[in-house]
Amino acid sequence: MKLGVCTGGGDCAGLNAILRSLVLTARTRGDTAIVGIVEGINGLAFNPPQHQVLFSPKGGGLDEFTLDCLLTMGGTYLRTSNAGNPFRDAKAGATYKADVIRGYKALGLDGLIVVGGDGTHCIAAELASGGVKLIGIPKTIDNDYVDSELAVGFTSAVNVAAEAILRVNTSGTSHGRVMVVEVMGRHAGYIALNAGIAAGADAILIPERPFSRERLAKHLKEKVLSRKKHAIVVCAEGAHAEGEELQYRSSASGSRHLGGVGDAVASFLHDALDRDTRCTSLGHTQRGSQADPVDRILAARFATRAIRLAHENRFGSMVVLRKGQVEVASYPKARSRGGAAARCLISSDPTIVAAEDMGIYCGEVP
Ligand code: F6P
Repeated sequence: MKLGVCTGGGDCAGLNAILRSLVLTARTRGDTAIVGIVEGINGLAFNPPQHQVLFSPKGGGLDEFTLDCLLTMGGTYLRTSNAGNPFRDAKAGATYKADVIRGYKALGLDGLIVVGGDGTHCIAAELASGGVKLIGIPKTIDNDYVDSELAVGFTSAVNVAAEAILRVNTSGTSHGRVMVVEVMGRHAGYIALNAGIAAGADAILIPERPFSRERLAKHLKEKVLSRKKHAIVVCAEGAHAEGEELQYRSSASGSRHLGGVGDAVASFLHDALDRDTRCTSLGHTQRGSQADPVDRILAARFATRAIRLAHENRFGSMVVLRKGQVEVASYPKARSRGGAAARCLISSDPTIVAAEDMGIYCGEVP
């Protein structure tokens, strides 16, 4: 059997651990070749397809040193693309799809393992109608893949964010300041909530629960700054105040990216509390770490199961984690990225309950 693998969407820690696990499993079986597709499914659209043999039972593939490095190395060895849905382009979409399918057939693939978040899988799902046999592995630092309680990349990102918040905290304590830390989290506040608790935050602002400016200021004044001279506010990039819009930044190329709410919160708190405030936005540092042990183990469990599914001819599936067990869900249906249903925190989530029980302000119940 010859399986392709590609990584799509934003990079994260653990992608390379997945590639390594696929290679080790194929090598152990001795009956499976693993072909890496370069830069997401885009690589298939080139003529010839942009690819690299990661393992072949006939010989060739990654050397031992590279395989060792992949276990912990951040980013993706195969590179990736995070540039919207190419199939939705009215003019070029159909040609692009035909090119991708041609590339898949030209490589003689029996299936394609797609590693990505919801957006990537929704895009890849378009290929099923063209005969591309798909198996999916969920990855996203936001941990918002709808079917899986854990996605590869999340715990490593939480480690980075928690470490950074602790470092900011030491400066906050020394100077008696209100320190705001903005973390990633477009639709879901899992990074903010988990890193915030792990690093001793006094308030955690998440997309799912719009915050009240007044209640945030009151909480910090009466419950926090009455006891100590500093405070830590952790804020997801997708958080917003009640009745207010999301905050965006423009890049040099003119595209809009979520971000800036941390600065807005710091500026508001400076005036409301008459305190020195600072904001640190962690941005892509959260995606740049080594894979932590949880991600390395999850990568191994997902990748080995994906290869089993291929040999059982169970294409059209996703490996997911439910109640700590790897299970098999249906591959998502093709739909536009904007329509993606993200997994989000609900107010009864035990981690939110724990935070509130400890007196951490977590926004308002919607
Ligand atoms: O979806 C994961 C994520 O990290 C979001 O939290 C963030 O908004 C986005 O990726 C940033 O993506 P890019 O690398 O394209 O700026």
